[in-house]
Amino acid sequence: MIEKQQWHSGLTSSSSPVVGEKETQRLPLSLSKRISSLFQRLIPTRSFWSDMSSLAGKCTQCLRRRSLTKRLCRQQKSREGGWVTLSNPPNQVGTIIKWEAPDRVCVRLLDFLIHPSKWTEQSYSKEEVSPYTYVRAENVEDLLSHLTQCFVSRREEVRTLFADLHREIFCKQTPFWDVAVDLEPGACISTPHIHIIVLELLWKLFPKAEAILDIGSGSGFVTAAFAKAAPHAQVVGIECSSNLIKFSRWAVEQVLTSEECERVTFLKGDGKEGRKGEHFDIINVAFMCRGLPSPLVEQLKPQGKMIIPLSTGTRSSYEKNYEAGWFVLIEKCSDGTIEQYPMFKCSFVPSRSGESPSLLSKVLFFLKGGLDWIRGVRPHYVAEDSKEKPPQDESGDEM
Ligand SMILES: C[S@@+](CC[C@H](N)C(=O)[O-])C[C@H]1O[C@@H](n2cnc3c(N)ncnc32)[C@H](O)[C@@H]1O
Repeated sequence: MIEKQQWHSGLTSSSSPVVGEKETQRLPLSLSKRISSLFQRLIPTRSFWSDMSSLAGKCTQCLRRRSLTKRLCRQQKSREGGWVTLSNPPNQVGTIIKWEAPDRVCVRLLDFLIHPSKWTEQSYSKEEVSPYTYVRAENVEDLLSHLTQCFVSRREEVRTLFADLHREIFCKQTPFWDVAVDLEPGACISTPHIHIIVLELLWKLFPKAEAILDIGSGSGFVTAAFAKAAPHAQVVGIECSSNLIKFSRWAVEQVLTSEECERVTFLKGDGKEGRKGEHFDIINVAFMCRGLPSPLVEQLKPQGKMIIPLSTGTRSSYEKNYEAGWFVLIEKCSDGTIEQYPMFKCSFVPSRSGESPSLLSKVLFFLKGGLDWIRGVRPHYVAEDSKEKPPQDESGDEM
């Protein structure tokens, strides 16, 4: 007797065969039963699929973590311009300005409490500088304590704001590593140290700011930070990717109050055009620009500040599809003239004009981490583009 079974066709019930009726009924009963149970065993159950999908998730996470480790190592070794930790003042972060001799280096001390025009430059022997550490923290406290120790984070208020924003909502993979994490091809969430620096540099403007423009708003993290820091400001995020606009709208709702959310708008468009007819106290640009976009200069209010990475026209040494340049503070004087302060070298994604990436490029992006791993690609530390290449030490390593 064939038992009633939950699966397909004419074999399910002896009373109403449907498909393949003749063939199945001609088979001896026991053989048909055996085939049926064999098929049943071959058809994967729901729990099998859920196990498989969680396994695939874990593998992907593991591969992405490896690829971010690689990126962080490259950043560690070959950051444009070279960030260093000084022995005097102890733990102070600085950026290499030039090599004066094989064993002496001129370093600009980065201090975000004072205006960049007042930053000092000093000569150090090679023994007094060591490579700056980009930390791989597992929680926000460790990340912030590291950034405080090396003088990148200066204000307690900025740290509280950063912690309140829950970076893990905007960036699921390694949210507290000091590394840029890709969101989609051509877009990433910037490093925590860049987010902190932007907030430090603009801190004094927030209380009075009425209008802020965040260009290349990506994940929405900085846009949300602006809305929290500037209680009276309308904050506009401009982003060219529809997917990221959708994501950032969702993400800011998770961390902002309803009053703060009402002051935030995300728009799709080419950020280099800004917002025609409007003027802003603060403009923050998060992709590399080849020259200062004139609409943005025009839209900056007198006494306003803009932060913008300006390209040196070279490829980044640490990420192939990034561009190298200077992280620049722009200030507009009351008479409308512009002052520029190039602060330190940096790498950013280049400007992109178009739509969200195609499905194919998303699939390739997803697979890239895995393929690199299978191919056994290991971090390479060669600065391909650095014109001011430092001399090599005895071990052949770059500083
Ligand atoms: C470094 S990423 C995101 C930075 C963002 N502040 C964050 O931390 O999430 C730069 C962003 O700029 C966007 N972008 C690039 N070129 C653009 C353009 N011309 N107009 C608008 N957005 C652009 C990219 O899609 C990307 O999301």
